[in-house]
Amino acid sequence: MIKNICCIGAGYVGGPTMAVIAQKCPHIKVTVVDLNQDRINAWNHEDLSLLPIYEPGLDTVVGEARGRNLFFSTEVDKAIDEADAIFISVNTPTKTYGVGKGMAADLKYIELCARQIARVAKSDKIVIEKSTLPVRTAQAIKDILDHTGNGVNFQILSNPEFLAEGTAIEDLFAPDRVLIGGDTSPEGQKAIQKLVDVYANWVNRDNILTTNVWSSELSKLTANAFLAQRVSSINAMSELCEKTGADVNEVAKAIGLDSRIGSKFLKSSVGFGGSCFQKDILNLVYIAKSYGLNEVADYWEQVIIMNDHQKRRFSKNIISTLYNTVSGKKIAFLGWAFKKDTNDTRESAAIYVADDLISEQANVAVFDPKVEADQIHFDLNYLETRSDSENKKYIAIESNGYDACKNAHAIAILTEWDEFKSYDWQKIYDNMLKPAFVFDGRNLLDGEKLEKIGFIYQAIGK
Ligand code: UDX
Ligand code: ADP
Repeated sequence: MIKNICCIGAGYVGGPTMAVIAQKCPHIKVTVVDLNQDRINAWNHEDLSLLPIYEPGLDTVVGEARGRNLFFSTEVDKAIDEADAIFISVNTPTKTYGVGKGMAADLKYIELCARQIARVAKSDKIVIEKSTLPVRTAQAIKDILDHTGNGVNFQILSNPEFLAEGTAIEDLFAPDRVLIGGDTSPEGQKAIQKLVDVYANWVNRDNILTTNVWSSELSKLTANAFLAQRVSSINAMSELCEKTGADVNEVAKAIGLDSRIGSKFLKSSVGFGGSCFQKDILNLVYIAKSYGLNEVADYWEQVIIMNDHQKRRFSKNIISTLYNTVSGKKIAFLGWAFKKDTNDTRESAAIYVADDLISEQANVAVFDPKVEADQIHFDLNYLETRSDSENKKYIAIESNGYDACKNAHAIAILTEWDEFKSYDWQKIYDNMLKPAFVFDGRNLLDGEKLEKIGFIYQAIGK
């Protein structure tokens, strides 16, 4: 029986997942470790509204379990030593150098974890891949553990996380399924069962699926690729809708009622963001290419190409609608996060749209209810289009939406935060330069109402 869990990586996946395991399994000690002292300090912060990650409901879960059987620490070796099961939940960004640059997943953090586990472990351990990884990574982890370890036995499991940010706690409480992949040997099956028993504390056993390791690893990539593909598919139709007079929301509703298609994930937008979709598809494309499967690779790459096109055409449309020049014009951004209810901005469409507009010398004023100013500066600088001081000349971060929109020529909705819907749009209109434009990248607002006020309103796919 698993009694002591260590999770390496206190990020968006490791933090909430372990908090829920600890809350649901008071008999298991769960220690989440990270090299980043600031992050650990934030997880240990007395004020639960200052946790490093914003997720609805997370504060309650952490508040209940922290100090009881949930601990956050930087003492990685100690936690590894004490654990029966170790989750690896570190970041696997797209490689920015060498072979596979821009496509393959960078596994250096994973390898470092494996080496650290091998060095420290003095008793048998179950090592669980939680981060999304290329198929067959488990083999690499196993090789490292078996060849550099202290002769103890390691079982490697794949247990990908399907939670979506913003609904992480809900998703963890009631997952559609839990997937656990392991070795087909009797020892592998035993390890799988031990992890099944952990989840069975709150998940119906029928919803816990067990497979071989490779199926589990590939299922995660496949799930993300299919989800992203749906968004790119509806976004491709949105452009056609704009040309033909069809309304993408009506089309989405009409096709979504077909039970074979289903209604979820058909919301047309300025483009998908987040840490997973692009990275995982690029990774899939890279793997397919490495096996010489060029048609498979090209097929999936198109999902990314479409998404890049969607972001770019949103900014192009703003520029052309504002009489082909945005130089010196103030454009308000409502939202910066890659979707609502999260402070995560990784790959957010807002970053790319802002970059395009700044290249045209627009003054961009951003308000996001959860994203810090430093993060917005970091995101723009990360693109390396221009220097930090140059970016700062063009971007202003406001502490509320009304100030962001004041004296603006146009408003762009980049994130579908609920609060934007309940703004006093008449007041915003009164304080803007005329004609006042709204470019709704999320199909969030009531266009008819805005047009009655006097706005010129444009939404994706209409
Ligand atoms: C995704 C997967 O959903 C999750 O299962 C996996 O574990 C991690 O990757 P996440 O990135 O948190 O989760 O968010 P998700 O809700 O999938 O949204 C991704 C992006 O697609 C967001 O930018 C979102 O705004 C966009 N999106 C989603 C749309 O534009 N339209 C939709 O209909 C759905
Ligand atoms: P994810 O979205 O996959 O959770 P994050 O970047 O939010 O990714 O979190 C990954 C965390 O893993 C980071 O906080 C990082 O500091 C941590 N990390 C990376 N490598 C190690 C390591 N070798 N030991 C401990 N923590 C690590």
